[in-house]
Parts: sequence; structure tokens; C-alpha cells
Amino acid sequence: MIRKKLIAGNWKMNNTSSDAADLVSGIVSEVGRANDVDVVVCPPFTSIESVGKALADSSVKLGAQNMHPERSGAYTGEISAGMLRSLFASYVILGHSERRALFGETDAFINQKVLAAIKSELKPILCVGETLEEREAGTTLKVVQTQLEAGLVGVSKEQATSVVIAYEPVWAIGTGKVATSDQAQEVHAFIRDLLNKLFTPAVGGKIRILYGGSMKPANAPELLAQPDIDGGLIGGAALEARSFVDLVKAAS
Ligand code: G3P
Repeated sequence: MIRKKLIAGNWKMNNTSSDAADLVSGIVSEVGRANDVDVVVCPPFTSIESVGKALADSSVKLGAQNMHPERSGAYTGEISAGMLRSLFASYVILGHSERRALFGETDAFINQKVLAAIKSELKPILCVGETLEEREAGTTLKVVQTQLEAGLVGVSKEQATSVVIAYEPVWAIGTGKVATSDQAQEVHAFIRDLLNKLFTPAVGGKIRILYGGSMKPANAPELLAQPDIDGGLIGGAALEARSFVDLVKAAS
């Protein structure tokens, strides 16, 4: 099964709108016509609209870093899927480990968001991954399985092909400690097998599984050469046009 690679930049809480404008213009000028790789940038909410406009004539897609599952209402500080769609976002990162650990997001709440995103035709990038303690305790696969299955409750096999999974080992995020290609492939293959069982092998074979955690131009080729690694969810290296563009090129 040939899956188109996807490189997504998660800018996290970085970049003012003018920084965002500079970064997006550097990306668009180099890979704004890339069509052998799907490229997504996920700026903070404050730059969603301006970055969306800067991407309008390019093949680079807009993503958000989070959303609330409800359509509207008294949820101070929150943003709905419909609001993101109205600004032409097409992807949304959900269940990032920082949201789980720092903002108390549970699997059940993340699942509500996944379902709401799909309903609004936003493609969820559902993040899963173990902490260092969990890896050392030998529970990596169990943790990933729980997060994956709970995050995808109620998703039909027709809907599942719009979902992207990101395997982000927490110990590799922002630490410079990248998982080895064997460590990453082992978990990606496990996720693929679970997706095949949850849906069908034909559907599981279409779902992209990204790796995230200190992915850089230097380590990307080996990771991206693994059979079940279909791209990257990039933090630090997405904050500079040069390294992000090099990652897109590594995936081409
Ligand atoms: O979502 C991307 C991420 O958490 C990885 O961050 O900085 O390790 O590439 P980083």
C-alpha cells in the first residue's frame, strides 16, 4: 500500500503574527507547490487566519493545534471545529501529550474532539505515545493501544481514512532524544495492526501514521524509510523555514 507522506509542523505556542508571516512565506516559497508530499502547518490560533491567507494559492494545508468538541456556547477561551473550518483549516492536532499532561485531557474528551472534527470535515491528527517511565516499565504498547482505541471510539471505517495518527514518544519530544528507527517502526507496525483490526486491513493500510519527537533533517531519512512511518509531526524543526523545508524534501 502506497501512502502519500505527510509532514506537519506543530508551531506550539511560538511565533507572533509577524513571525508567522515570515515563516510561512519561507515555507511557501520553497515547497508551496509540492505535491508528492502533503505539507501542513499548524500555527497558534492567533495566526490561523493570516497563515491561511498566505497559504491560499499553495498546496500547503492549514491545521490547528487543538479545538473544543462543542459547536458553540459558554466555553471561554475555546475554539470550535466550525470556526476552524470557516478559516479554511483542514487538519487539527488532537490529544497531543502536552494537552494530556498539562491540561488534563482524557482519552474520552479527546475522543469527543475526534468525532466532532470528523463531523466538521476536519482531519484529526490523533497523537499517542508513552512517557519514559512507561517505556522503562515495558508498557509502551499497552499505553499506545489504550490511547488509540479510546481515541477512535465511534469512528466508522468510512471515516477512518480521514484520520491521521501521530506516534510521539513523550521522552523524545523537544529533548533531542529521537527514537531509533527500529523503536519507532515497532510501535508504528503495532499501531497499523491495531488499525487493521479496528477497521479492516484495507482501511488500516490507508491511514497515515506520523512519527513525532525530535525529528530533524539529519535523522528523518532513516525514520521515513521505515515501512509504517508515513511522515512526521514536527515541533522544534518546524519553527525555521530551512529545516522544515529540508524535512519536506526528505519525505519527497
Ligand atoms: O507535535 C510535535 C512534537 O511534539 C515534537 O516536537 O520539538 O520534539 O520535534 P519536537
